[in-house]
Amino acid sequence: MTDAVTLQGVTKQFGDVVAVCDLDLAIADGEFFSLLGPSGCGKTTTLRMIAGFEFPTTGSLKIHGQEMGLEPPNKRPVNTVFQSYALFPHMTVEENVGFGLLMKKLGSADIAERVKRALDMVQLTHRAAATPKQLSGGQQQRVALARALVNEPEVLLLDEPLGALDLKLRQAMQLELKDLQERVGITFIYVTHDQDEALTMSDRIGVMNEGELLQVGVPQEIYEHPTSRFVADFIGEINLLPAVVVDHETVRLLGNHPISASTGAASGNEVTVAIRPERFELYDLDEPIPEGMNRIEGTVSRRIYHGDVFYYDVDTPAGVIEAKEENRPGVELYEVGERTIVVWAPAATSVVQE
Ligand SMILES: Nc1ncnc2c1ncn2[C@@H]1O[C@H](COP(=O)(O)OP(=O)(O)O)[C@@H](O)[C@H]1O
Ligand SMILES: [Mg+2]
Repeated sequence: MTDAVTLQGVTKQFGDVVAVCDLDLAIADGEFFSLLGPSGCGKTTTLRMIAGFEFPTTGSLKIHGQEMGLEPPNKRPVNTVFQSYALFPHMTVEENVGFGLLMKKLGSADIAERVKRALDMVQLTHRAAATPKQLSGGQQQRVALARALVNEPEVLLLDEPLGALDLKLRQAMQLELKDLQERVGITFIYVTHDQDEALTMSDRIGVMNEGELLQVGVPQEIYEHPTSRFVADFIGEINLLPAVVVDHETVRLLGNHPISASTGAASGNEVTVAIRPERFELYDLDEPIPEGMNRIEGTVSRRIYHGDVFYYDVDTPAGVIEAKEENRPGVELYEVGERTIVVWAPAATSVVQE
């Protein structure tokens, strides 16, 4: 099967600014792919090149195996949904969705049929005769989606489409979009700076920083096995502890404290050990600890109640460790000032270099 979109060595410069640097990426047909990264990292530029609003300075960009070259947006089998979706206020939902087809001079029966199908997809058939101001924010966003889907694109490009919505609505729309994508089966390329959004919705995520694509993987891989300090730090909460490599199975934390962690880095290299707070368990000093687990002793310096979880700061020779324990019935609480042993699995320990 050909990939939906392939970028090879794509670089985009605006004068002296390198917005996107030597990007290699293949997005599969039917995939929900997210480009994730902080503001200014080159996500929108990448999307605009796929859409045909910008052209690569160098490199190759293909859609379904076809080199796009200088092909304009309307000649590409793609459509874009933007954050500011600007519906026509004086037109009904139906007219908004059908407007592009009218401009393309399609017949009215054909337009009606396609508009109906697009409105079905976003579950807005019952609001076809409403005007945008009679709709909620979420419904307006769905009209914007329908307006793109009505063109029957092979690839739908979405640039932070939920950015203007409040949190609850955004979360509801995330699930809705994911459902919609699975139903219609077209390729979605979704740009966001919101890591939760990317983790929730995507089949795969590409993490970008400063124009570079740092890591591509399924959400679980990106979250649990970050390959760089940036990706570890950008996605979720994480402990980053300085360490020195001893051998392929061992690193030494500060305080001359060896732990098990697999690494390809050479002995003596300075690295960073990355561990998620929920991977730690706190033990009493006299409690038996399972074989093979990493451990370090420390003093609880802070405990924060967070409803579903407790956050602990534990002062250890390797630095302050933030641990997160679920607020389960019967959970044992540690008090500030109490000694404890922080325990975690070698497999939950990612070793990253700069
Ligand atoms: N038309 C342009 N002219 C000059 N610089 C641009 C232009 N578009 C984007 N840039 C620059 O390229 C970089 C990446 O921008 P962008 O792709 O919009 O990032 P993101 O969408 O990840 O926030 C930024 O430094 C931005 O200022
Ligand atoms: Mg952007």
